[in-house]
Amino acid sequence: MITLNINNTPYQVDASADMPLLWAIRDMVGLTGTKFGCGMAQCGACTVHVDGKPVRSCSFPVAAAVGKKITTIEGMKDKITEAIQNAWVELQVPQCGYCQSGQIMSATALLKAKPNPTDADIDAAMQGNLCRCGTYQRIRSAIHRAAEMIK
Ligand code: FES
Ligand code: FES
Repeated sequence: MITLNINNTPYQVDASADMPLLWAIRDMVGLTGTKFGCGMAQCGACTVHVDGKPVRSCSFPVAAAVGKKITTIEGMKDKITEAIQNAWVELQVPQCGYCQSGQIMSATALLKAKPNPTDADIDAAMQGNLCRCGTYQRIRSAIHRAAEMIK
């Protein structure tokens, strides 16, 4: 058994060391806000934070997360996340919604690192998060809006 600290709660999972963290989060722990897209670290739908840094959980082995603080969309409750969620609603960012938890995880990490990001900062931080519905312009606007809300 492996113990994972997810959203400040310890979970015991019967997982092999090289199993993707995403399988543990969704299938063993039952937190389904984190999505499976490509399974190849190419789309960002599976983004979670490990010790505050965004990682692609579909390609991140469980063993590498042991002893670290894993945060999923369900555990995002701080001021920055609240501003992002409010901005997302205000600007009606999501379309189908499938990619959006991953987008929010990456956007939150960006605003923690850079409270006033430029368009170039946003494009660089978000380039690994794909959206088949093409919500990129609204995501960019909403990140700027969230930055204003936090000030
Ligand atoms: S499912 Fe992990 S990056 Fe696409
Ligand atoms: S909102 Fe549909 S994939 Fe992004």
